[in-house]
Amino acid sequence: MKIKNLTIVAIILSFLIILTSIYVNFDLVVNVRFYVDKNNVLVEQINEDNLKLQIPVQKLKDINEYSRTSVSIAIIKDNAMDLIDSMQSVSLELKNNLATMNDISLKRHNAAVQTISSKLLQLQINLDQVQFVMNQNMLLNEMLNTSDENLMLISELIDEIDQDYDDLNLVILNDLTIVLNTMFILLMIVVASLFFGLIRFVYFQIPYIVKGLNMLGDKQYHNETLKIPTPIFVEEKEIHNYIDTVFEENRFIEDIKEVLLKVYVVEDAVDALFNLLKERMGIDRVGLAFVDYNREMIVAEYGVIVDRVIKLGPGFEVPFVRTSLYDLIESRKPMINNDLEEEFKKRPKSSSLYLLAQEEIKSNLILPLTMGNAVFGFLFLSSREKDFFNLNHLHLAEKIVYEIKGLLNRTYFTKVVFSKITSGFSELVEKKDNETGEHILRMVNYSTLLAYKLIEKNHPDYQIQERMVLEIERNAAVHDIGKVGIPDSILKKPGKLTDEEWEIMRTHPIIGGDIFKSIREGLKAFDPELYKVSEDITRYHHEKWNGEGYPHGLKGHEIPLVARIVAVADVFDAISSKRIYKEAFEVEESFQILKNMSGVNLDPYLVEIFIENKSEVLKIYEKYK
Ligand code: C2E
Ligand code: SIN
Ligand code: SIN
Ligand code: SIN
Ligand code: FE
Ligand code: FE
Repeated sequence: MKIKNLTIVAIILSFLIILTSIYVNFDLVVNVRFYVDKNNVLVEQINEDNLKLQIPVQKLKDINEYSRTSVSIAIIKDNAMDLIDSMQSVSLELKNNLATMNDISLKRHNAAVQTISSKLLQLQINLDQVQFVMNQNMLLNEMLNTSDENLMLISELIDEIDQDYDDLNLVILNDLTIVLNTMFILLMIVVASLFFGLIRFVYFQIPYIVKGLNMLGDKQYHNETLKIPTPIFVEEKEIHNYIDTVFEENRFIEDIKEVLLKVYVVEDAVDALFNLLKERMGIDRVGLAFVDYNREMIVAEYGVIVDRVIKLGPGFEVPFVRTSLYDLIESRKPMINNDLEEEFKKRPKSSSLYLLAQEEIKSNLILPLTMGNAVFGFLFLSSREKDFFNLNHLHLAEKIVYEIKGLLNRTYFTKVVFSKITSGFSELVEKKDNETGEHILRMVNYSTLLAYKLIEKNHPDYQIQERMVLEIERNAAVHDIGKVGIPDSILKKPGKLTDEEWEIMRTHPIIGGDIFKSIREGLKAFDPELYKVSEDITRYHHEKWNGEGYPHGLKGHEIPLVARIVAVADVFDAISSKRIYKEAFEVEESFQILKNMSGVNLDPYLVEIFIENKSEVLKIYEKYK
């Protein structure tokens, strides 16, 4: 039941009651009452006339006994005749009035009215008779004897009519009372039910709402203590649901903030956001892109998608002007696109739409990330369902973005700083080791190729997250950073190393590993995982599968997977390229040497995959020759 409907019904009911009561009362009070009052006067008058009639009749009787004066007889007779005339006209009027009343609304009392009417008729007949007798020129004695019976009957009839009429009056009055009482009771019911709604509102709902708002104001988003008044009306339920939703949304945003507060790496932020939003909204993908204003590019930073590898991911970039994001940079407003298939038909050349189509993404909610007046990036929420996003999603997403954009900016900033440090290291190694930029690029590409292939293979012992590929990509280049600590005389020695020199050379993974260890110590308070991959790669890239490597002699799966991956890439590139101490091997021969090292130096499964993808390895080899 809606209180709104109750109110409408109550108002309509009150109107009906008032209208009926006006109608009925008008009839009863105005019409019937009018005649009742008039008839009361008439009945009284006829009674009076009848009483008065006794006087001339008595006089005539007296005259009859003692004296006979024709003049006085005539006067007395005239007097009696006048009274009878008056009674005649009064009874006629009474009869007419009753007939009219009956027509209006006394049909219920038809019988009573009929009785009175017939008595009135009889009264008239009797009066007629008395008149007739009095008009006859008969002896006084004779006349009196003849009309005496009539006069008695007239008195009796008038008494009866008086009595009947009183009874009828009483009944009518009773009717009136019943009608008025009924109206009153009905009105009371209407008023009471409205009052009931109002009281519920004032005593339960308003305090509940006020308390809820206070709690929200105090940022207490756990509303379990907020006692919800039992709802009776639909509106009350709606209020509760709305307040509950507000609490739930705020709690959810609090949760997001709490989780993201502990995050220092932008990928972790997106992963956390994805997990929370997947559950809350049922989305299938979260993407993050930043705007590079110098190059006028949108650069995809990171993305997560359910059940598959992201296509539109890191490394993807597109000039502003070719995306619909350009308008959003201007407007700074979010945008829903609930039919990407249709959009792709309109812009078949869009590479981002092509990649989203490959991911089977059909709906997109794009939220610009702003700092001041500038858009520094975009958050993409997506679904594989067409027409997925509605205004509720949009509002919630906007609130979330408002809360987390600073954090995304901060993690992105941290990331840029980290990547500058890392690329600085790589350059250092390059200079020191006399290795070229091409070596680094090949090495990085071989490593990421292997890592991506591992995701596709999905081998239970070689589980790797897409995130890890990014980390490998970023850190492979620094694997030999420790060589900064090796004297140039050893590093750049054209010939074979002596035992002592080799002893020193073997310390480079420790030196490199310790550099990252000390960086990690400093950042431990923020996130103990920061630079872990960097340390693993630098420290363990010379461990051997058979346990005879250095510096720790780890064996097989004891060696971190990232280090095993980088080792394959590093060794293949060292064999197939020229070094100060050696010539380059032909590429086919290099594959053969690599194969020989499988299961000895290198993880056999990784070597197998590497060789399996020879054609792609060759592409990289040729590209950076
Ligand atoms: P690097 O030049 O980057 O070589 C990395 C790894 O590739 C080597 O690790 C080794 O496992 C593999 N590798 C490189 N060339 C060949 C090759 O011709 N045949 C085979 N089977 N494997 C090869 P390793 O041996 O632990 O050496 C580590 C680093 O020590 C090398 O890095 C290089 O900088 C230095 N180094 C190794 N041997 C010599 C040497 O004879 N003279 C000089 N000056 N430096 C050397
Ligand atoms: C993304 O969705 O992850 C990036 C989209 C873009 O760069 O256009
Ligand atoms: C575009 O409009 O090209 C990008 C669409 C998207 O990433 O949602
Ligand atoms: C980063 O480059 O973003 C962090 C490096 C790491 O976690 O190893
Ligand atoms: Fe090395
Ligand atoms: Fe190396």
